[in-house]
Amino acid sequence: MSAPGQGYRGRAPGESAAMTSTAAFPPRAATVRRAAKPRIAWPWLDRAGRFSPLKASVLLMALLPGAAVAWLLATGQMGAEPFKQAAREVGTITYRMLLLTLLVTPLRAVADWPAIVQVRRMLGLVTLGYALAHLGLYVAHMNGDLAKVASEIALRAYLTLGFVALLGLAVLGATSTDAAMKRMGRGWKRLHRLVVPIALLGLVHFFIQSKADVTEPTLMAGFVIWLLCWRTLPRELQASGLGLLAVAVVAALGTVIVEYAWYALATRIPAERVLAANLDVLNGLRPAVIVLITGLLAAAVPGLRRRLAWRRGATA
Ligand code: HEM
Repeated sequence: MSAPGQGYRGRAPGESAAMTSTAAFPPRAATVRRAAKPRIAWPWLDRAGRFSPLKASVLLMALLPGAAVAWLLATGQMGAEPFKQAAREVGTITYRMLLLTLLVTPLRAVADWPAIVQVRRMLGLVTLGYALAHLGLYVAHMNGDLAKVASEIALRAYLTLGFVALLGLAVLGATSTDAAMKRMGRGWKRLHRLVVPIALLGLVHFFIQSKADVTEPTLMAGFVIWLLCWRTLPRELQASGLGLLAVAVVAALGTVIVEYAWYALATRIPAERVLAANLDVLNGLRPAVIVLITGLLAAAVPGLRRRLAWRRGATA
């Protein structure tokens, strides 16, 4: 039976038992008609159709940065090339959302928070929405000249990568329904593993267009490395302090390597100076340091959780 507020709700006020009985033909027809009503899976409802404060607040927070960009754009506060600037802002938001979507599974395991999984599909769809808005803003920046946009995408490698990433996100979005999940069976999981290569393509797109200052893409790369390392951990270590400590250290070193390699191979900026800046924490935290600190905090969570559970047990 459908959940309250979604399709057939059981006996409505004024309805008699006979009307909902499976024995009487006309009422049953009425029941069937109601059950067949298209169900709107509003993103703030849980699977049972009840309002979910968790989903509603995550949705609100996920939409806020986009609303801020829309506001700045609408009020002429986006600089001399407003659509270009807005495309950049929304590109960054898209990547952050993609990363948050990817981090839901580790968060569930590390924080032992099964309910958080409810927001994964929603975050994935929000990511797709931002990616489409990013493309739309780029088209607007090109004065709506679709032929020019298509030729730019075909000719510039970083745009081609972005386009492939967007196509990938669209395929994942289109197959994110319960019906598609059921229809595809095991293939669904295999298909949705493509989110990792999509994230890597998006990352290369991000790096190439950022050119000389790759602080933000390096930080994102660090979190992607953390995620990939976490995924390779045996299941029993994925929520253990020791396993997470190892992941934090490897991810931070990986971030240092990515940053060094980028400056050494793609720019004229002395890579050694950037490398040394990682140790100079008084002058601001470099991406590798932020990844290390975040990773260490994640590693502390299982211990804290156990302590809290122990205290609760002791006071009960
Ligand atoms: C058809 C697909 C896409 C096109 C045509 C496109 C186009 C662009 C362009 C033109 C820029 C540079 C704006 C500028 O400074 O001139 C850019 C930046 C960016 N794009 Fe895309 N993009 C696409 C897909 C994506 C996707 C799928 C993602 C994320 C997964 C993404 C994330 C980014 C990011 C993070 C930036 C950098 C923003 C910044 O500089 O802060 N893009 N994109």
